[in-house]
Amino acid sequence: MQMETKIVKAYGDPVRDKEVMSEAGLIIRSGGLVAIPTETVYGLAGDALNPDSSRKIYSAKGRPSDNPLIVHISKTEDVYKITDSFPEEAEELAREFWPGPLTMVLPKSSLVPRETTGGLDTVAVRMPVNPIASEFISSSGGFIAAPSANRSGRPSCTTAAHVFEDMNGRIPLIIDGGEVGIGIESTIVDLTGNKPCLLRPGIINVAMLNEVVGDVDIDPSIEGIVDRDAHPKAPGMKYKHYAPKGELYIVRGDLIKVTEKINSLVSVNRSKNIKTAVIATDETRDVYAADLVVSVGRRSDEASIAHNLFSVLRSMDEEDVDIIYTEEFDTPNIGPAIMNRLVRAAGHKIIDSSLRSE
Ligand code: TXA
Ligand code: MG
Repeated sequence: MQMETKIVKAYGDPVRDKEVMSEAGLIIRSGGLVAIPTETVYGLAGDALNPDSSRKIYSAKGRPSDNPLIVHISKTEDVYKITDSFPEEAEELAREFWPGPLTMVLPKSSLVPRETTGGLDTVAVRMPVNPIASEFISSSGGFIAAPSANRSGRPSCTTAAHVFEDMNGRIPLIIDGGEVGIGIESTIVDLTGNKPCLLRPGIINVAMLNEVVGDVDIDPSIEGIVDRDAHPKAPGMKYKHYAPKGELYIVRGDLIKVTEKINSLVSVNRSKNIKTAVIATDETRDVYAADLVVSVGRRSDEASIAHNLFSVLRSMDEEDVDIIYTEEFDTPNIGPAIMNRLVRAAGHKIIDSSLRSE
């Protein structure tokens, strides 16, 4: 069903945002959807306790309904209403990282409909720190299901304009809180087993989790570079995701070799009239001679790479390139989270720069 999609600005100030929040709250309480900013990426929000709202989310995103939604809360104590148990490790993680970009998977209570959890007995819970998200959640009933606001398979949205690209005509309201800060989705940790298990890497990395809860398992699917057939515990991780229309390849290895390899591939493509783009960094952009060279950020500031990653992937579609080569960004802290997205965007196509031909 087509509808008019309105974009309204919010400022993260309860007084200035009062009207926006009450309009959004009305939509959510009557079973509708609103796109909202969070500190990670924009979310497509609906009432987590209303099965119809969750159905609408799946349909607006074009998302398979076995892929569960994260329930967002604005006060820690609300977690006890939607979960059946909240183990000691979860308490410790919440104390350290909530509000913030950490999602915890826990046994769900009967309050949460299976439509929201993709049929699972567990529920993923997150408490965002973004003040607009927080205010929105509390004025909309306190329990908000919100997947990333992109159409299924597309890069996540880091601006309201990206949301409009994907959701125009599908939802009544987008709350524009400006560009998000982090740029990649939350870290997901499963707390339903014997030991905490990382299901999706994010800017809260393994070392930070280790400091709070000791050793954590790592779901084999996020090492996905090698193991394409692993059955991920986070169902969303099994789907093709983030892929631009052009063929994306990651070129890995020693940085000098990577730049040389990319330039030689670019010149072969040029001789065949294939339009080629390169995703580089500020440190390397000048060495490339491709049709389009885009810097995703600075190697010396890895947060800048996470911050720009999805908008750079989106921009590739506007430029209509046939082939895209990206450097590998194996930076120390956020590198695994960045590469997890990039490897999936590339459909696992990786070129080793030390080999003479691919
Ligand atoms: O940063 C974020 O987490 C953003 C913002 C909007 O909060 N949300 C987000 O949601 O990334 P989404 O739906 O795009 O990704 C949620 C991931 C999916 O891979 C899904 O399969 C997994 O979380 N997930 C959700 N509930 C789960 C559960 N009960 N057990 C295992 N995985 C779950
Ligand atoms: Mg998503």
